[in-house]
Amino acid sequence: MNKFYFVCRKCGHKIENFKDWFQSNQKCPNCGENKIDTIYNTDKSKIHELIAKGQKPESMFHYFDFLPLNNKENIVTDGEGIVPIERWKFLEDFAKRKYNLNLEIYINRNDKSFATGTFKDKGGALAASVLKEEGIKEYVVVSTGNTATAFAHYMAKAGVSCSVFVPEDSLPDSEAHIGAYGQKLFRVKGDYAYAKKVAADYAKKYGILITGGNLDPLRLEAKKVQVFEMLREIGKIPDVYIQALSGGTGPFAVEKAFKDFEGTGLLNKMPRFLLAQGHLCAPQAHAWEKAKAANFPEGFEKEYPIYENPVTLIPTIATGNPAMYPLMAPLVRKTGGEIFEINEELAVHIARLVAFERVIKIGPASAAGLAGLFESLKRAYIKDGETVFVNIGESAGRSLDFMKEVSYTTENIKTADDCKRFNREEYREKVWDPFESY
Ligand SMILES: Cc1ncc(COP(=O)(O)O)c(C=O)c1O
Ligand SMILES: [Zn+2]
Repeated sequence: MNKFYFVCRKCGHKIENFKDWFQSNQKCPNCGENKIDTIYNTDKSKIHELIAKGQKPESMFHYFDFLPLNNKENIVTDGEGIVPIERWKFLEDFAKRKYNLNLEIYINRNDKSFATGTFKDKGGALAASVLKEEGIKEYVVVSTGNTATAFAHYMAKAGVSCSVFVPEDSLPDSEAHIGAYGQKLFRVKGDYAYAKKVAADYAKKYGILITGGNLDPLRLEAKKVQVFEMLREIGKIPDVYIQALSGGTGPFAVEKAFKDFEGTGLLNKMPRFLLAQGHLCAPQAHAWEKAKAANFPEGFEKEYPIYENPVTLIPTIATGNPAMYPLMAPLVRKTGGEIFEINEELAVHIARLVAFERVIKIGPASAAGLAGLFESLKRAYIKDGETVFVNIGESAGRSLDFMKEVSYTTENIKTADDCKRFNREEYREKVWDPFESY
């Protein structure tokens, strides 16, 4: 019996393995649909062992039994996917002080992912492992930056030539990482939607395998590991899941983990999805707001705006054409969640606050996730006594310009007489100020 197989979401056709899936151009050979579910024959109760206390996983492949790879020898890993999930007391204190809410707030520290410091490392590791297993030596990736960097890294480890397409405004610091590994970077004159088109043309022209988008099993199956990690590290599924929303792979992956265990009673209630979009590119938030005002009429999920060439402060999460909205909106609704916008200008203040309180440097997309928490508190989306999980996706490793903005203490001086005696505590009020009045 195969360890896993795929089922077409539209017609139910069974696809035996990746070989068949890739051969049919990542489309159902029966009906042409590109959305499939990965199904495992693995004994589901095995999860208890994997999430038990005292386990010391070394990478996401700790969950090998629930990942679509046949042979452990093909694993390509850099220790990704096993990152600390920390309780951040300064945020809990803030929720209590300002909103009188008693919360448990957990932060998923993807900035600590060893390879490239983002939660995209998991997808990169699984994709590289599967390509190794299938003997595939070329790959095409299109991304706003973080997936690009992670895939370039792991593909290099697997000896795969990776052609990476990024939109014009993607952060320049990604370039250095991709280029340094000797992977190819094509910076496309245009927005993310256009970069996707050019990448698809290139892949077609040379007959090279290309990433399958937000529902690609290589990404979805990898990212679902975060749910197993919630169980292993905090021992429960939180009430609320917060993330910065771009294409939606993260939330879809959470859903997939629950699908894997449907009917077993092992994973019960999905958390409420509270998903934040930067206000300068928030098509899903705008569609949601409109649908909500009209009380979610029949077919509401099919109506969404498309923003061409969005100019934003956080290009990493800017998907102007949210093709996945028709699937994302009903999912968010099912969980009782919300899609809303956050002010991108808050990102710098959040990164400053986190750096002050926790001595951690986070990137702008992570700050957007945390802005989702502040905004959710303000909008009363979180209830007293709840457990909140915030998926912060990236370190500041590739956002040097952003970090320059975050830094605030430099003074140009000539002699010691110019220097007032320094006390770090004096900055506390300054870093908290934007939130006390928020
Ligand atoms: C750090 C970070 N946060 C959030 C996102 C949004 O990811 P998605 O909406 O695909 O789950 C991304 C991806 O672009 C990211 O790199
Ligand atoms: Zn089909």
